[in-house]
Amino acid sequence: MCLILLFLIFVSLLPTSLASSDSPSTQALIQQCWHEYPLTTALFQSSQNGEHDIVFQLNGLIQSTVHSTQDSRESSARSNYGPWTHQPACTKVLQSIGSNLCVYTNSSFSNGRGISIFTTPTLANQFAALPAFMDPAALDGVNTFSGAWYTETLPGKGVAMLAKKKLKFGDRVTAYTPALIAYLEDELDTIEREKYWRIAISQLPEDTRNGYLSLAYIYGQENIRVQDIVKANTFQLDIGGQNHLAVFPETSRLNHACSPNAQYHLDPSLLTHFVAVTRPISPNEEITISYTSPLEPTEIRQQHLQSGFHFSCTCPRCSAKRTTDKTIQQIQTLQKSLNDWSATSSGSPKLAEKLIQLYRKEGLEGFLDVPYGFAALAYNAVGDAKRAEKYAQQAREIILMKDGKWTPNMQLWSELLRDPRAHWSYGRRKR
Ligand SMILES: *[C@@H]1O[C@H](CO)[C@@H](O)[C@H](O)[C@H]1NC(C)=O
Repeated sequence: MCLILLFLIFVSLLPTSLASSDSPSTQALIQQCWHEYPLTTALFQSSQNGEHDIVFQLNGLIQSTVHSTQDSRESSARSNYGPWTHQPACTKVLQSIGSNLCVYTNSSFSNGRGISIFTTPTLANQFAALPAFMDPAALDGVNTFSGAWYTETLPGKGVAMLAKKKLKFGDRVTAYTPALIAYLEDELDTIEREKYWRIAISQLPEDTRNGYLSLAYIYGQENIRVQDIVKANTFQLDIGGQNHLAVFPETSRLNHACSPNAQYHLDPSLLTHFVAVTRPISPNEEITISYTSPLEPTEIRQQHLQSGFHFSCTCPRCSAKRTTDKTIQQIQTLQKSLNDWSATSSGSPKLAEKLIQLYRKEGLEGFLDVPYGFAALAYNAVGDAKRAEKYAQQAREIILMKDGKWTPNMQLWSELLRDPRAHWSYGRRKR
């Protein structure tokens, strides 16, 4: 599974948009996927460096050949590499970055889960300064089994994640740190990149390494297997303003659905990918997330899934293209009206309630922060501070699941909740 951090820029609800009442409802969705960088094929050359020769043989990597480098590794571990347990292996300086990239492994990270990061020396220091590394309590409850799921191979779907028990709104499904994080570059050639990423994987503790290597891949070529797995399983993580690819082995088992029953977000400071339930799930039902923005027109979503994830989307919201696109259109029209703060606006609590219903009808419970937000404003605008508070509260709840607490969107609703009557929206449509 590929993708990704979705930055939902909620420009339309910012008070500044009041200035121009006809400002378009702007929801910019920035996403990028590694599929923009083609995986080319090539054969491995044996390396000059004897220690790493072994790393080039993937079968050997899966089995225990890695152990033959144990001696040098153990002596490395005794040396001082700061927060890292292994000597960083570095590329030459890359023109496009103005720095070299190195493999930084901490095999004792998070109680022995381990982590390997391929990044610049400067960014490596930034990673090491994150609470994930510095604060012993930061990852409490992370990288532990939640008891909510099991995996099974489903016909035509590969491995899927299923509910182990009845799950309700808000239940945690997973919370894991990545096995591998890699700087997003396109300067290294495939073979060179594979060499470093293999070092990164080989230095992980056995369980984490095996978890990584058992993931799905797209092309099936062994000599580029580590990249092939990244391609099929990556999320993007922004650290220090720089995109990194991140692979979370457990989380990768979540398949795509157009009407997902779970929502995820990444917390960069904890380097953790969190997944929570957005509507009741029965035992043995599949747990799903959306790999695309669910409000894009069907054709765009299908294209994205095809080019990024190599599958054709056949779930109901893809098959019933006409109906789905009509609803999406309706949602956009409603949002436009609700975002119109001019004297002639038709925005009202009734329209907001209708918007909420449409999202539910589409199975987009995990994206309800937008209609909840509009409802909070619409109720406040007619002077119903009580309902405004209720919806602002609910918007925050979904934002926590979808974007995490660090998102600026949280502030919008915290502001309203502080004192609805002092909020810019209060009484604005009372006439
Ligand atoms: C590895 O990460 C842990 C945090 O999980 C940290 O306490 C430790 O100092 C780091 N470095 C080494 C060399 O273990």
